[in-house]
Amino acid sequence: MQRIGVLTSGGDASGMNSCIRAVVRKAIYHGLEVIGIRRGYSGFIDADMGPMNLGSVADIISRGGTILHTARSERFKTKEGRALAMENVERFGIQGLVVIGGDGSFTGASIFSQEHGVPVICVPGTIDNDIAGTDYTIGFDTAVNNVVDAINKIRDTATSHERTFVIEVMGRNSGNIALAAGLAGGAESILIPEIPFNVEDICKKLLNGIKRGKLHSVILVAEGAASGLEIGQQIKALTGFDTKVTILGHLQRGGIPTAFDRILAARLGARAVELLMAGETHKMVGIRAGEIVATDLTEVLGKPSPINKDMYHLARILSI
Ligand code: F6P
Repeated sequence: MQRIGVLTSGGDASGMNSCIRAVVRKAIYHGLEVIGIRRGYSGFIDADMGPMNLGSVADIISRGGTILHTARSERFKTKEGRALAMENVERFGIQGLVVIGGDGSFTGASIFSQEHGVPVICVPGTIDNDIAGTDYTIGFDTAVNNVVDAINKIRDTATSHERTFVIEVMGRNSGNIALAAGLAGGAESILIPEIPFNVEDICKKLLNGIKRGKLHSVILVAEGAASGLEIGQQIKALTGFDTKVTILGHLQRGGIPTAFDRILAARLGARAVELLMAGETHKMVGIRAGEIVATDLTEVLGKPSPINKDMYHLARILSI
C-alpha cells in the first residue's frame, strides 16, 4: 500500500482533528502518502481532495471540529454517487480509506468497500457514543464535559432563584450523553430513551426534594427521550414550580477536545493505518476495556450499543 485517503463524515466531534493528525503522521512515518478528502462523501464524489503532509496537520491537535470539514451526503447513498467516488479513487491512486464518523458513515463505507473492493477502516467519531464494538467514541468525552460545564453554570442561577431547570441534551437515539453528564453533574432526574420514565414520579421526587430543603433541581433530558420544552411544561403544570428549559444544542459539539478524546483519537487513528497496511478491510477500530481492538463492520452496523444500567441506577441512588 502506497497511498491512503482519509475523510470525516456525519456530525463533527471534538477530537476528529487529533485523529486526522494521527492518521496522516502515522502513515507518513511508514512511508505512505495521504490524500485528505474534504466534506466527507460529498468531497469524495466531487473530487474535493488533495495531498496532505506533516505540516497540513500542524497545530490542529487542540482544535475542535474537523479541518477536513464534514457533510451528510445523500448522493453517496446511491450507486451512481458511489461510482463517481470510485472514479476518484482511481484518479488519485487511493489504495485504502480511513473513514472517521458515526454509524451512517460506516454504512456508506461498508457498502462502498464491498461494491468496489476498496479497503476501508472506520474510526468511531461522534458525540453520541452510540456505536457497538467500542466503549467510547471520539468526541463523547468532550461533549459530556461541555454539558457538565453548562450544568455547573445553570446550577448557580438555579440555586439563586430557587428554580427547577430542564436541560435537553443531544445524543440522537442514545441516552449516553445525558447519563454520563447527569451522573457527573448531579442531576436530580435523567430521562433517557433506553429507560421508561413517568413525569408524575419525577414531580413527586421534586416535591420531596423541596420538603427536605433543596433549593433547586436539574433534570437532564436526552433528545431521544422527550422534548425538553414539553417536559418543562408538564413539570410546571403538575408542580407549579418556576421551571426553565435550556436546550444546549450544538454548543455540545464544539470546543477544545479533552485529553481523553485526543488520546483515544491518536490511538484509533494510528491503529486504522496499521490495519490498512496489514491488508485488513471492512473493520472498525474501537476501544474495549482500555485495549484498541478491531471489529468487523457486520458486528457493528445496526447493532445496539446499550447504556450502562449500573451507572443509571447509581445516578438514581445518588440523587435521592
Ligand atoms: O450525531 C451527532 C448529533 O449531534 C446528534 O446528537 C444530533 O441529534 C445530531 O447530530 C444533530 O445533527 P445536525 O448537526 O445535522 O443538526
